[in-house]
Amino acid sequence: MHDLFDTPPNPRKIDVEALTPEQAQAELAALAAEVAHHDRLYHQQDQPEISDADYDALVRRNTAIEARFPELRRADSPSLRVGSAPAAGFGKVRHAVPMLSLGNAFSPDDVAEFEARVRRFLGLSDDAALGFVAEPKIDGLSCSLRYERGELVLAATRGDGAEGENVTANVRTIRDVPKRLPAPFPEVLEVRGEVYMNRDDFRAMNAARAEREEPLFANPRNAAAGSLRQLDPTITAGRPLCFFGYALGEVSEPIAETQWGIRERLKGWGFQLNRPAELCDGNDKLLAYYEGIGRRRAGLPFDIDGVVYKVDNLELQQRLGFVSRAPRWAIAHKFPAEQAQTRLKAITIQVGRTGALTPVAELEDITVGGVVVSRATLHNEDEIARKDIRVGDLVVVQRAGDVIPQVVEVVLSQRPAESAPYVPVETCPVCGSLAIREAGEVVRRCTGGLICAAQAKERLRHFVSRDAFDIEGLGEKIIEEFWDEGFIKSPVDIFTLEGRVELVGRPGWKEKSVENLFNAINQRRRGIDLHRVIYALGIRHVGEVTAKSLARHYTTMDGWIDAMIAAGQAMPGPDWRDLHELNGVGPVTADTILAWFADPESGSKLDFYAGNEALRLETIIGSLGIKRLNTRAAQALATRHGTLADWRAAMERAVGQAPGPAWLELVATPDVGEVAAEELAGFFAEERNLAIVRGLADRLTVLAAEAPKAGNSPVAGKTVVFTGTLEKMTRSEAKARAESLGAKVAGSVSGKTDYLVAGADAGSKAAKAKELGVEILTEEEWLARIGG
Ligand code: IVH
Repeated sequence: MHDLFDTPPNPRKIDVEALTPEQAQAELAALAAEVAHHDRLYHQQDQPEISDADYDALVRRNTAIEARFPELRRADSPSLRVGSAPAAGFGKVRHAVPMLSLGNAFSPDDVAEFEARVRRFLGLSDDAALGFVAEPKIDGLSCSLRYERGELVLAATRGDGAEGENVTANVRTIRDVPKRLPAPFPEVLEVRGEVYMNRDDFRAMNAARAEREEPLFANPRNAAAGSLRQLDPTITAGRPLCFFGYALGEVSEPIAETQWGIRERLKGWGFQLNRPAELCDGNDKLLAYYEGIGRRRAGLPFDIDGVVYKVDNLELQQRLGFVSRAPRWAIAHKFPAEQAQTRLKAITIQVGRTGALTPVAELEDITVGGVVVSRATLHNEDEIARKDIRVGDLVVVQRAGDVIPQVVEVVLSQRPAESAPYVPVETCPVCGSLAIREAGEVVRRCTGGLICAAQAKERLRHFVSRDAFDIEGLGEKIIEEFWDEGFIKSPVDIFTLEGRVELVGRPGWKEKSVENLFNAINQRRRGIDLHRVIYALGIRHVGEVTAKSLARHYTTMDGWIDAMIAAGQAMPGPDWRDLHELNGVGPVTADTILAWFADPESGSKLDFYAGNEALRLETIIGSLGIKRLNTRAAQALATRHGTLADWRAAMERAVGQAPGPAWLELVATPDVGEVAAEELAGFFAEERNLAIVRGLADRLTVLAAEAPKAGNSPVAGKTVVFTGTLEKMTRSEAKARAESLGAKVAGSVSGKTDYLVAGADAGSKAAKAKELGVEILTEEEWLARIGG
């Protein structure tokens, strides 16, 4: 067996940088065989013949060679088996269980509200026992470690929560991370926790970097993130990274009944835990813990930005579940932001991708909470006026977590004598177009639209940004350069760059870097999720959540485009809208009015009153016999239109202006609503935008989104109404569960109701359901139907 590995002249002694391609190829073949051999010994025969450290070294060597020669990576490479980093960046990992973030509490009131919310949801009285684990919140980056049969097989960053980066090779170099767990362990175990750096280690590392004249890290968090996201794991190995475990992802069997129990099990497997932690029963204890940690904060070996409270009982955690990206069963209680004072040198204007002008404070460099700050947002001109911020002022700057630094206030006693109030700009500093503030808006916008270079560049930057196309190598500077050169003027140009523009030889571009850029672009071209494409377009009010919902609803790129065009054409007209938005009328009455006008017999009734000056308009309207129309509505209509002829004309126009099904479908899509729908319609009505979207559709392989998971659950797509007192769960819990299974929960029984779930003392709703023939279930029957 051994000769297999000895065939190449032992090149493992050669520095990776010095390997020839032939040597690299031979060594990768040998490493693949050797790692597979040790895997067999370990997994199938339980007889490992090398130490964990030696095994890790083989995997690392393999990764390092592949990083230098990506084209030589073998199909049977160990890095693929553990799913580890391809050279053009890190591989993607879909999390088996989403990695959540945490909601924030900033005050004792917020904490009390958190506890009250938990109790309300679970239907617990104020005096029922409810325990929490309180632990420090470390400033690092979260990581999920997957163990199969006790062996570390995968480590991934959080990414967007659904999908992260494969950092297995790097995490293997962290001393605190057990590579194999002592038995007993579940078949599958995902441990979630934080990769971080101790403050002393951080200082020592920066000092060493300063000596070698390497760039310094701003704070321990950035240092940890930068170290973990190294393509070469040997670099990570040289960094003093630590790891705390604090939660679980996928597990094949329960390992504990409480959060505290999870900590105990993790400790047993050799994980470090974030300390000091405490079991607290209720608000006062939580706040006492918070105060105590706050006092000890400076003495802890690592940076923390707050504490975390978690419901201790795992069954209750399960019932509480989560809302959007955060669990209902946990919350982060943050420490107050850090502040410092510095001089405001100038106020500049940043132009956003939708033309919004944001004033920015240019500051004399100042360190706030360990980070050097030279700019801060001033939000908008009203904020500047309200705080009376002037150039030359000494200002208080605040930074909280990852939030952009802010100017809190001016130190008026230090104001220079000659200072003058800030005067808002009237034109765009980039394209010179008029910059206007619409009535009721706080934001001033450049009216340059498509001609404004700043907007165009911002749109492109957004297009390639992390949650959109995430094209590595197309950073801010390069977008700027390529735009100025005319290489990339619209998103479509990105995908025609190769072959159209000769980059090699331009300053800063070598063959390798050009190849990397085209690889990164082509990778996206060959497969990109629909929601990323939608989000990338940068349409106002269409953020990530809305983009995801649109993708789920319309599923394919072509289907979505057609639907958006159709929706734009099916928008309600101005008279229809005016009627539906009129104060005092209401949408239901508006519809009965239009139904009345649509009836051919109505015309003669109106003719009868025409020219009858003696009667007041509201009296006429009130006497036409329109269903549901009351005096208040008649008055509102009369005031709005003035004369019978005008009212009649407006209503007759409105009849033909009702929204069509495509519009109604768009507006009813979750997380869309009128405002976003209007922006979408407006975007697609613009020829140039449509050309870009079609250009993208032609050139990209856009992956269809999964339709909402109906079918899995017998209640998916059904409409259910809960009534009476439920015994096993509160109303909010019942609603959240039903919705998570794809059911719609309505407040009242109608012909569209599929089930009425009737608890004790169900009243009129049960009677109505009986009358309409709606299926009525007891709470037990409902639970049985949704699987307990
Ligand atoms: S629990 C589902 N516990 O803070 C609950 N998170 O701001 C998952 N973090 O993404 C988080 N210390 O990366 C938890 N003791 C702790 C933590 C902690 C730091 C991080 C974590 C999370 C972020 C949210």
